[in-house]
Amino acid sequence: MSWIGGKKSLRDLIVNLFPLYYERYIEVFGGGGWILFHKPPGNDFEVYNDFNSLLTNLYRCVREKPTELMDALKYCLNSREDFDFVKNALARDSPASDVQKAAWFYQLIRYSYASGLTSFGSQPHDIRSNFPIIEQAHRRLAKVVIENKDFEKLIGQYDRPVSFFYCDPPYYETESYYKNVGEDGFTEKDHIRLRDALMKAQGKFLLSYNDCEFIRNLYDAPGIQIDAYTRISNIKQRYDNGAQFPEILIANYDMQERSRNAPAQMNLFDAGLPGLMPGEEE
Ligand SMILES: C[S@@+](CC[C@H](N)C(=O)[O-])C[C@H]1O[C@@H](n2cnc3c(N)ncnc32)[C@H](O)[C@@H]1O
Repeated sequence: MSWIGGKKSLRDLIVNLFPLYYERYIEVFGGGGWILFHKPPGNDFEVYNDFNSLLTNLYRCVREKPTELMDALKYCLNSREDFDFVKNALARDSPASDVQKAAWFYQLIRYSYASGLTSFGSQPHDIRSNFPIIEQAHRRLAKVVIENKDFEKLIGQYDRPVSFFYCDPPYYETESYYKNVGEDGFTEKDHIRLRDALMKAQGKFLLSYNDCEFIRNLYDAPGIQIDAYTRISNIKQRYDNGAQFPEILIANYDMQERSRNAPAQMNLFDAGLPGLMPGEEE
């Protein structure tokens, strides 16, 4: 599902830059889960984490109570009145059941403008058309551990030499979008706290950020690889057609090791001499 800062358009690139070997995959800032859902399930131990408890409650209900969740969603209305009611109920931390809260939160994401959770989107959409995705997500999450922790605790808890952390924190100077998560949103102190937690980790990490001097300086250290790339920004593009959004990926391992070690594609035409049939001699 769409989520602010979601990595839908970068998911292929990011998964191809994963290290070749790891045993534990930990998605530290899970959000809409675009990378976890794109990553093929394997034998590795997988963890999805986000500090937003409404989001982790939704994923837990998708994993454990998908039928109850879909029953609760069946009769929700795509209307401004219903949207405001649900938004207020979640804001005052209504003592509703976990399934009811998950349904309300899903409704808020689906029916808000640009999935921003604040204003009604006024778009035609039938939430029941999402039921097949809920069922698929239920199966994909079956063995995934879902955590609701601050990143520092999580990294400390799951760090091992065989761990791999994918981190997609709120981007520098866009942190106010996430004010609803912690009291002050994500501050400069948090970016530094994240750097410190990752730099002392025994495992590998891959980190996404917007390209800016502050972040480049934070990670300017031996053994750290920083690669820049651009993509079309959805938010900016709405106002400025074709706007490019420069981003960086930072890792403490060789990000190209997967592509370098990929077996060459076998094909019928490269090997042997051109124009000769099997058994023919030059
Ligand atoms: C850029 S979004 C992640 C988007 C995700 N990669 C996707 O594709 O949808 C950042 C996420 O970090 C979460 N977050 C904010 N502060 C956090 C903290 N201190 N610890 C863990 N997660 C946090 C937010 O709730 C938000 O979902």
